[in-house]
Amino acid sequence: MQQLPVLSAFVEQHATQKHFPETPENLYDPLRYFLSIGGKRMRPILTLMAAQAFDVSKEESIHAGLAIEFFHNFSLIHDDIMDAAPVRRGMQTVHEKWNSNIAILSGDVLLVEAYQQLLAYPDHRLAPLLQRFNQTAIEVCEGQQMDMDFEARADVSEAEYIEMIRLKTSVLLGCALEFGAILANQSDDTRKRIYDFGVELGIAFQIQDDLLDLYADPEKFGKQVGGDILSNKKTLLMLRAKHLAESKNDSRFEELIQMPANESKIAAAKALFIELGAVEEVTSVMNEYYNKAMADLNSLPILEELKAPLHDLADYLLNREH
Ligand code: IPE
Ligand code: IPE
Ligand code: MG
Ligand code: MG
Ligand code: MG
Repeated sequence: MQQLPVLSAFVEQHATQKHFPETPENLYDPLRYFLSIGGKRMRPILTLMAAQAFDVSKEESIHAGLAIEFFHNFSLIHDDIMDAAPVRRGMQTVHEKWNSNIAILSGDVLLVEAYQQLLAYPDHRLAPLLQRFNQTAIEVCEGQQMDMDFEARADVSEAEYIEMIRLKTSVLLGCALEFGAILANQSDDTRKRIYDFGVELGIAFQIQDDLLDLYADPEKFGKQVGGDILSNKKTLLMLRAKHLAESKNDSRFEELIQMPANESKIAAAKALFIELGAVEEVTSVMNEYYNKAMADLNSLPILEELKAPLHDLADYLLNREH
């Protein structure tokens, strides 16, 4: 049986049935709103798939999955303030629909709800879960700070970029998968291997997010196309385009950087990055990370048939349009 649609429906049902108090409305309405507008729910699905591969049921692993999903949603609500993003999941962002103070505070509640989910587990499971979760949460903040610091810098290296996305995005995918292994009381070695798989997958995932930010179909993307260009984000596309332009003595990259942040700049970046060959190079870097992730997955000490759902999810992510 195809696990992806089954687990996806299971997670969706649990993520949206969370009950919040009626008042204060301005605290809880944004949460009801944000959790009801969907999202791929990829991270809790990873937790449930990892747990299942080690013979732990979806009913037992759902709390760990929801903890990750609530943390992720908290980070998105705050990220949208930091990135001045107007749209998320095809709907207005919380800070646009309400305001930034409301987005900060309702986001905070969601972070606490993440911890609340972990309390479902007995102490001997809770300790390793919390340890991994807390380290991950701090690392995500480190990555987010680096992401913002890089906006004001012109000399960001590729190694710095990879480290930034490892922190802001990948470690949470690693954590989601490791949660499944922790619930199944797996060895440190197995925990590390499945975590590493998530980190490689997460790096590919964030590179793809950067590509989609500029090249996705606006009808399907659900976020503002070109937002990274408007914020002067140092994406791998930017870094490669800069490097390629320099090596070809092409002044168009520097001209692009000088342009005011508007729709013309987005259109110019879109065309220039293709012409310079940056899109092609970035796509191949992304594929390298996906391949590394698949090699990590294949090396896991689990039966091949139990790895199949994780393969399916990785394929789905590689071919996504939002
Ligand atoms: C968006 O994550 C933030 C990134 C790390 C790129 P997703 O693309 O998983 O967002 P949703 O949850 O599906 O909306
Ligand atoms: C977000 O990266 C990572 C976190 C939320 C921690 P982005 O800023 O690229 O994510 P999107 O594109 O807004 O979803
Ligand atoms: Mg961001
Ligand atoms: Mg953002
Ligand atoms: Mg993005």
